[in-house]
Amino acid sequence: MADLYREQILDHSRNPHNFGEIEDPDFTYEDSNPLCGDRVRIDVKVEDGVIADIKFSGRGCAISQASASMLTDMMKGRKVDEIRELTAEDMLDELGIQISPARVKCALLGLKVLKSGAYGLTDWPHER
Ligand code: FES
Repeated sequence: MADLYREQILDHSRNPHNFGEIEDPDFTYEDSNPLCGDRVRIDVKVEDGVIADIKFSGRGCAISQASASMLTDMMKGRKVDEIRELTAEDMLDELGIQISPARVKCALLGLKVLKSGAYGLTDWPHER
């Protein structure tokens, strides 16, 4: 089963979904993993409180890029408010494999960027 998830992560990193930038996003945020300098940017277009479009760009290891790709798939069409509910555990569950403590920051970079972008927009409190 872990092989299946591993394959899925490799596939997302080689052929990322929703990769690119949105020309006129309602919010955008970019951040890096301080340990390695790898970056992820996420742009979001909101319509009636719903994530109408979401794209990510950046560069980094397979786990950071795959998790950002999976996150955009997960959130497209969902309510913006649902970003607040997303936890680190949700993201790690989505990846489906055991992530070593050293790679957790890679796996959570996209989520950190998405939450930072959303909280900046609506002034929600930051979770750390
Ligand atoms: Fe840089 Fe994973 S090694 S984000």
